[in-house]
Amino acid sequence: MYPLRRNRRLRANEAIRSLVRETIITPNDFLVPLFVVEGKGIKEEIASMPNYYRYSLDLLENEVKELWKLGLKSVLLFVKVPDNLKDNKGTEALNPNGLMQRAIKTVKNSCPDMLVMTDVALDPYSSYGHDGIVENGMIINDETADVLAEMSVSHAEAGANFVAPSDMMDGRILSIREALEDANFLNTGIMSYSAKYASAFYGPFRDALDSAPVNMVEVPKDKKTYQMDFANRFEAIRETEMDIDEGADIVMVKPGIAYLDIVREIKNEVDVPVAAYQVSGEYAMIKAVSEKGWLDHDAVMLEQLTAIKRSGADIIASYFAKDVVKLLY
Ligand code: PBG
Repeated sequence: MYPLRRNRRLRANEAIRSLVRETIITPNDFLVPLFVVEGKGIKEEIASMPNYYRYSLDLLENEVKELWKLGLKSVLLFVKVPDNLKDNKGTEALNPNGLMQRAIKTVKNSCPDMLVMTDVALDPYSSYGHDGIVENGMIINDETADVLAEMSVSHAEAGANFVAPSDMMDGRILSIREALEDANFLNTGIMSYSAKYASAFYGPFRDALDSAPVNMVEVPKDKKTYQMDFANRFEAIRETEMDIDEGADIVMVKPGIAYLDIVREIKNEVDVPVAAYQVSGEYAMIKAVSEKGWLDHDAVMLEQLTAIKRSGADIIASYFAKDVVKLLY
């Protein structure tokens, strides 16, 4: 007797394995998050994100050019706002000459074809570290959505191709879409963080931007009243379908690796591109464990990114984008 099928034939050597491989990582898959700070000549490493940096605008230019040369053609911008410019309403977010608005122009000037996506949420601008306006100990929804809509128009005016609302207020995609249409930004895309979970994996990101919720009795201590409960699955689909109905061009699941079941379900359910965000804590874990010599950095990085793509993600936002492209190409 012999096995009718010997599946190991297709695994016999790298040539046959590469011939039948289903999922290939390419530079086209990635969205590169970039952290921007005020100042000149600044490239500072983020303590909890080894080998990841905040850039001042002058050095952002070089970084963007380098990404382009590697075939990385899309960036997602985040800004670290000085404390003295923060308030409850995120007023600075609407400053036409604010850091985000200048960052958009800087990227477009140094690399005109680079696709620029911008983070839309109040937390980097909020004195309380929340994605929305705080009133009587609560995050107020509709007033926040109005500010996010104005912020989106401001980013579009500065030249952003896509806005990426990461706040999880109800109805904000519709508010943003209407505001963009009213301002005649008919071609500005919306990538919605549609299924964003209240996750402990965002810690290093909040270090990067100094944007963690403050510890004050009158302010909610976490983001659980707007970001999703990580125990839920159907809710992710509902949120995502609603965002598509409201005008989202791309939807996103966040975090990545612990939520690949959600990525796959959403991919099966919807017909717009699906993004997944491999977040700061996922990056930090791989860095830390490989610094200890307990896992092989490059192998684990490639395995996780491939798993994210295999799960159905059309787009991957990842702090490893540059590393993995350098490894493979
Ligand atoms: C905030 C925002 C967060 C991230 C992206 N946008 C943090 C949060 O919701 O507290 C997390 C990204 C990461 O951890 O890499 N609107």
